[in-house]
Amino acid sequence: MTKFIVVASGKGGVGRTTTAINLATALNSFGREVILVDANLSTPHIGIYLGSTKVPVSLHDVLSGEKHIKEALYQHRNGLKVIPASISIKNLKKIKPNLLEKYIQELTGSAEIVIVDSAAGLGEEPLSAIKACDEVIIVTTPDLASVTDALKTIKLCEEHNKKIFGIIVNKVKKDDFEMAKENIEFILENTVIALIPDDDTVRQSLYLKTPVTYSHPNTPAAIGFKKLAANILGEKYVESIEKKDTMLDIILKSIGLKP
Ligand SMILES: Nc1ncnc2c1ncn2[C@@H]1O[C@H](COP(=O)(O)OP(=O)(O)OP(=O)(O)O)[C@@H](O)[C@H]1O
Ligand SMILES: [Mg+2]
Repeated sequence: MTKFIVVASGKGGVGRTTTAINLATALNSFGREVILVDANLSTPHIGIYLGSTKVPVSLHDVLSGEKHIKEALYQHRNGLKVIPASISIKNLKKIKPNLLEKYIQELTGSAEIVIVDSAAGLGEEPLSAIKACDEVIIVTTPDLASVTDALKTIKLCEEHNKKIFGIIVNKVKKDDFEMAKENIEFILENTVIALIPDDDTVRQSLYLKTPVTYSHPNTPAAIGFKKLAANILGEKYVESIEKKDTMLDIILKSIGLKP
């Protein structure tokens, strides 16, 4: 049985794509068959974040009826299978987001878990991604605007009978100016399943065009995403005592010369 999980949020820029990429990479590194889909059709970032902005076949070609979804499947050098979306405005104009559900469901049987990165907001695009999946992970940052918008996304999911797997609070600084986990849970009436620290290595991994769980596996953000992956699998995360990567290791990994 394939499980379809969408990573959603009301507000933009809170870390949906970062979460989707790193959750998928961590699940893959735990030996699970995973496919990551970029369903942010108007402003897709997965290809940009993973260093392949131009691909012969994208999700847009699938949605326009020109290609089968399996023809848009690629493998990142870290082993993760990805279905990227096109960054071209021309391609955006030729598709209908409401077909997402039909085509994403065609991945049934191709992986154990499909992680879907969605667009922000409450419009047709994020709704199509939500409808295509069984469970929803809501990403928010610990501030009132983001939490308020997360509440709207939760209501939208409830209207469509989608199960909220839990809330991820991202970019946590643990200072006096952010909302406490308990307040977020009270407002959203759902459990916070991960607190991901605001960690500069996320920006560094973006520069290297690789997930932070791959390039910097022992940093606080990477460990946060790996714990989340273990949680989704219903397993306990055991911190490995692998040696820390040197700068040379990080560079070799980023160019695919080190596993
Ligand atoms: N835990 C973190 N620590 C530090 N920076 C982070 C963290 N998570 C995400 N970021 C940074 O925040 C920015 C936005 O992240 P991301 O693109 O994942 O958000 P998004 O919700 O997908 O945004 P969009 O609405 O544009 O699709 C990126 O520059 C990313 O590197
Ligand atoms: Mg994004």
